[in-house]
Amino acid sequence: MELIEAIKGRRSIREYKDTPVPRELIEEIIEAGTWAPSAKNGQQWRFTVYTGAAKKGLTDAFRGALDVFIEKHGFEESGSATWSCGVMEQAPVVIMVWNAGEEGWDSEVHSVAAAIQNMLLRAFDLGLGSLWIADVFYAPEALTKYAGVPWKMVAAVAVGYTDIEGRVPPKKGVHEVATFLE
Ligand SMILES: Cc1cc2nc3c(=O)[nH]c(=O)nc-3n(C[C@H](O)[C@H](O)[C@H](O)COP(=O)(O)O)c2cc1C
Repeated sequence: MELIEAIKGRRSIREYKDTPVPRELIEEIIEAGTWAPSAKNGQQWRFTVYTGAAKKGLTDAFRGALDVFIEKHGFEESGSATWSCGVMEQAPVVIMVWNAGEEGWDSEVHSVAAAIQNMLLRAFDLGLGSLWIADVFYAPEALTKYAGVPWKMVAAVAVGYTDIEGRVPPKKGVHEVATFLE
């Protein structure tokens, strides 16, 4: 697949089939992540991969924390988090992505984000759908506690087979976002 085909063809997928995803494919996706550039080559990314009962424990922790949030702040305030939690419950694989950087630089999290984009592109290349989920920030304590890791949470990535192509969102053109100076 041409790179530009993957860049433009990848979509955020929010409906998955039950079909299990072979471990080797998840490893290939993570490996693509590890080839991202990183600040001072710190490779600050870390990943915990959830399937089956482990994934149910993760999403139960998320759902439980969201229920508490909604009780306190109201459903409207929970934004799309309830929906995103549903996607994580449905997807056969959820990869939690963490920042192990110890310097506290903004660039550490930028490195991890670069890894995530590589992973989404590789998933698409392998015929899999994926979704980058930042709504996990409605429950960072619960999810980090469940994972039992010492790192900072960056995102969840849902992965799975899908029949959905995904809607192409409106995209700003180059001339709307870039200024050329000579
Ligand atoms: C940092 C980041 C966080 C995101 N968080 C969520 C999320 O929590 N839930 C969700 O459904 N989509 C999430 N998305 C997906 C975006 O909604 C999606 O990328 C955007 O609408 C453009 O659609 P596309 O990915 O199909 O091009 C996130 C994307 C990024 C880059």
